[in-house]
Amino acid sequence: MKLLLNSPLDMHLHLREGDMLKHVAPFTAQQFSGAVIMPNLISPVDSLIKVEQYRNDIKKCCGHENFEPFMTLFFRPYTREELEQVRDKIIGIKLYPAGITTQSENGVSDFSAIEPTLQIMEDLQIPLLVHGESNGFVMDREKEFLDVYQTIATQYPRLHVIMEHITTEAAVRFLEKHENVSATVTVHHLLLTLDDVVGGMMQPHLFCKPIAKRPTDREALREAVFSGNKKILFGSDSAPHPRHKKECVGCAAGVFSAPVALPLLAQIFEEQNCLELLQGFVSDYAINRYGLTVPKKEVALTDTAWEVPAKYGDVVPYYAEQTLRWSLI
Ligand code: NCD
Ligand code: ZN
Ligand code: ZN
Repeated sequence: MKLLLNSPLDMHLHLREGDMLKHVAPFTAQQFSGAVIMPNLISPVDSLIKVEQYRNDIKKCCGHENFEPFMTLFFRPYTREELEQVRDKIIGIKLYPAGITTQSENGVSDFSAIEPTLQIMEDLQIPLLVHGESNGFVMDREKEFLDVYQTIATQYPRLHVIMEHITTEAAVRFLEKHENVSATVTVHHLLLTLDDVVGGMMQPHLFCKPIAKRPTDREALREAVFSGNKKILFGSDSAPHPRHKKECVGCAAGVFSAPVALPLLAQIFEEQNCLELLQGFVSDYAINRYGLTVPKKEVALTDTAWEVPAKYGDVVPYYAEQTLRWSLI
């Protein structure tokens, strides 16, 4: 059997820089027509010059692939002039609470100080992408952060707010209440609960932020995605770290899912008898919600099984050494 996807998009992706960028970018450029590139580099992408430089670096790593990196800016207080200059070069601005995830030290610590920038973003119609976690108890962080989402979504009703990588039933319910709010969901959060990460032998390659939650949370995500919720977009949150940063004391957060993203999605949508909804989840809904123009690219998969390698270079992929039913042609 063959499965064709039109212009698949990964709406949340970490490509890193330097050798890691060169190594991981081709996996996404081959499978997707575009991806939203996260700005949490060692020196955050927080200026027009850095956006342009990073985009050029990415393009160089994608060979001849028809692939559009949709750039994001790292949230800090910006002036109207700065945002007017950069608006055509970015898909949105990514807000990280300070210190809550990988390379977010320069994120927001005072949420009362973000208002002027949000007002300019609403005026200029620049979407706000958010890593929505408080600094409370780890299992409650996403739920607690819903208050912040609530304030922003009601105070700026024309601002498109994207709740990145949601993991809870509470987030799915919240999404229903606000027309201007969308969400991304990863493939690993459709499959994992906390038990898979720490319930048996600890699995560093499944450790990510937000941490996988309860079975009821995973069920709520699955129900929403497999029923074709048009406000929920696929964002892999593929977040590569070299093995020595994962298999150590002080394991870095992030699951490297880029090499398996589409085959794994095809597998789980097929298992749910809703393969026809995959096109919406990996492309159409994002194009609608963001009002995007994307490169035309047809990506084909076939139901030929393959075993995911134990590692790609120095990075261990999600589903390592396991068999997937679908492969890219
Ligand atoms: C991401 C990373 O490594 O950059 N890690 C993760 O666990 N998801 C950061 C992020 O998306 O929060
Ligand atoms: Zn995040
Ligand atoms: Zn991320």
